[in-house]
Amino acid sequence: MTKNVMNAIQYEKYGGGSAGLKEVEVGIPSPKKKEVLVKVEAVSINPLDWKIQKGLLRPLFFPGNFPHTPCTDIAGEVVQIGPQVKDFKVGDKVLALLNTRYGGGMAEFAVASESLTASRPPEVSAAEAAALPIAALTARDALIQIAGLKLDGTDKPKNVLVTAASGGVGHYAVQLAKLGNHHVTATCGARNIEVVKGLGADEVVDYRTPEGAALKSPSGRKYDAVINCTSGIAWSIFEPNLSEKAVVVELTPNPSSFITAALKKISFSKKRLVPFFVVVKREGLENLVQLLKDGKLKSLIDSKFPLTKAQDAWAKSLDGHATGKIIVEP
Ligand SMILES: NC(=O)c1ccc[n+]([C@@H]2O[C@H](COP(=O)([O-])OP(=O)(O)OC[C@H]3O[C@@H](n4cnc5c(N)ncnc54)[C@H](OP(=O)(O)O)[C@@H]3O)[C@@H](O)[C@H]2O)c1
Repeated sequence: MTKNVMNAIQYEKYGGGSAGLKEVEVGIPSPKKKEVLVKVEAVSINPLDWKIQKGLLRPLFFPGNFPHTPCTDIAGEVVQIGPQVKDFKVGDKVLALLNTRYGGGMAEFAVASESLTASRPPEVSAAEAAALPIAALTARDALIQIAGLKLDGTDKPKNVLVTAASGGVGHYAVQLAKLGNHHVTATCGARNIEVVKGLGADEVVDYRTPEGAALKSPSGRKYDAVINCTSGIAWSIFEPNLSEKAVVVELTPNPSSFITAALKKISFSKKRLVPFFVVVKREGLENLVQLLKDGKLKSLIDSKFPLTKAQDAWAKSLDGHATGKIIVEP
């Protein structure tokens, strides 16, 4: 590496929205013993990234400090390795989840822990790979670990509801549940109904209609599992649509979700609400990238922006109306 400075996007304090993001020149980070330095080809934005900027994760000490370079989900090429790195070499194409106090990705270079980096086969583009880490692993692990579903087709088919199926998490949840041969009902806005059907959903309802708002299955099914990618839906809306032993996986829990979850537990209710927070592991990334390579899963890309237009990408994510993932290409 001859170059030692790079362009990065940073913000200096909580709040400020997209206008708070500035393009700056900073030093290129050095990989520690078990880290790789990646030349970032694509980085995806998750709602978590702007929730950190809003200060919503302040009690968990995110971000670590200011100025903060946001975003964690990257794909690119390894350009330098730490002395104890065993599984990667310079020139390898990879994807990674960054853990530098939940950021570091919106830059020309980023350091990633070897344990949260996975190889990217040539068939998978940087944008498709960068879309995966938080969004696709949340969908996968919510379906497997919490809803208890198998995704390899060996399960008895279950009825699954995916809300906000047009979003970053939802579009993966629909596809992964279908890989398991489950029946998928999905909610999204009217303009995305055909897109979500194209992902494999068996029935799709517009969330702005009374039936959609009530989460009714058009074929009258009761759901065995709900992957709730929206927020603020009361238990009383879910409850009449659930089968006897259903589980609702709540990805954006609020205080009332925790109370409902606790009440269901102490009353030994067979219908459960489970708040869920993803923990990214390399094995999960490898599994997902293999599905992309095999053509069994696709990353729906809403839009791509150069680093100079990072503010526009951020504003689009903040707006909450992306169809799939928003990508920045440094
Ligand atoms: N717990 C975890 O580990 C975890 C991990 C990842 C994400 N999350 C959370 O999960 C949530 C979803 O994340 P995401 O990345 O999928 O968000 P996203 O991509 O920003 O979601 C945007 C999509 O949601 C649709 N939508 C919004 N409200 C809807 C509603 N009431 N019904 C149906 N569709 C609706 C929008 O459709 P329209 O444009 O038509 O409105 C848009 O297509 C966020 O709150 C995020 O923080 C949690």
